[in-house]
Amino acid sequence: MNLIQFEKVSHYYNNKAALKDLSFEIEDKKITAIIGKSGSGKSTLLQIINGLIRPTKGIVKVFGNPLDYDKLIELRRKIGYSVQGTGLFPHMSIYRNISLPGEISGDSKHDTERRVDTLMSFVNLPPSFKTKYPYQLSGGEQQRVGICRAMLLEPPIFLLDEAFGALDADTKKSIHAELLELQQAEPRTIVMVTHDLNEAMRLCDNLMVLHEGTIHQYAPKNEVITNPATDFVKLFIEAHRD
Ligand SMILES: Nc1ncnc2c1ncn2[C@@H]1O[C@H](COP(=O)(O)OP(=O)(O)OP(=O)(O)O)[C@@H](O)[C@H]1O
Ligand SMILES: [Mg+2]
Repeated sequence: MNLIQFEKVSHYYNNKAALKDLSFEIEDKKITAIIGKSGSGKSTLLQIINGLIRPTKGIVKVFGNPLDYDKLIELRRKIGYSVQGTGLFPHMSIYRNISLPGEISGDSKHDTERRVDTLMSFVNLPPSFKTKYPYQLSGGEQQRVGICRAMLLEPPIFLLDEAFGALDADTKKSIHAELLELQQAEPRTIVMVTHDLNEAMRLCDNLMVLHEGTIHQYAPKNEVITNPATDFVKLFIEAHRD
């Protein structure tokens, strides 16, 4: 049984449907990319997984059970979440920014230190950065710090919402490579939202194409490319593929 399951999930904002009757599972320990135009419902779908949004209808199962909206703190400990802009605390050092979830959870200092070192080396951040502050880092470096923080507690699920959107092409490429390396070393269930088809193709195993709140295709990435299920998917690929 997969960790993330949607059963007939719909979500409405002020009577307007953002997601329409979606049923699917996310394959464990793979990278699933959700792609679609602005307003297609991607961020809404992602935030339903970690309980930030409670859907109007349907059942969302995460870790095998329907989401318990009274226990979201516990849930989020097990779900890393990274968004564009990273949400780093400007007045805290890089080390504290990364280690904060461990501090809050009461993990031992020694274990946290080791984990921070491991993660920083995966994303190629030099140890000397630990005492720096976010403003002293480039956008790409800050994004890497955000990834380290999201991965600190080794969450089985990792959600990324346009996390690399603001980065230049070269920085994106190196972070992509680092993420894939981390995924090989510590496989987890990753769901990433992007409107960049080429980024999705570099990173994902499975690709979900969302359009106006419905799934047009959800399949291994190569199948989507070679065998688009709808005209929308076909045109989207033609317009966006490098
Ligand atoms: N808090 C909100 N209140 C009302 N409508 C909302 C709210 N959040 C999103 N919507 C609407 O729901 C639809 C889906 O929004 P969502 O943010 O999920 O899209 P998205 O695919 O992530 O878009 P983008 O690529 O621009 O981030 C859009 O039409 C949006 O205007
Ligand atoms: Mg969005």
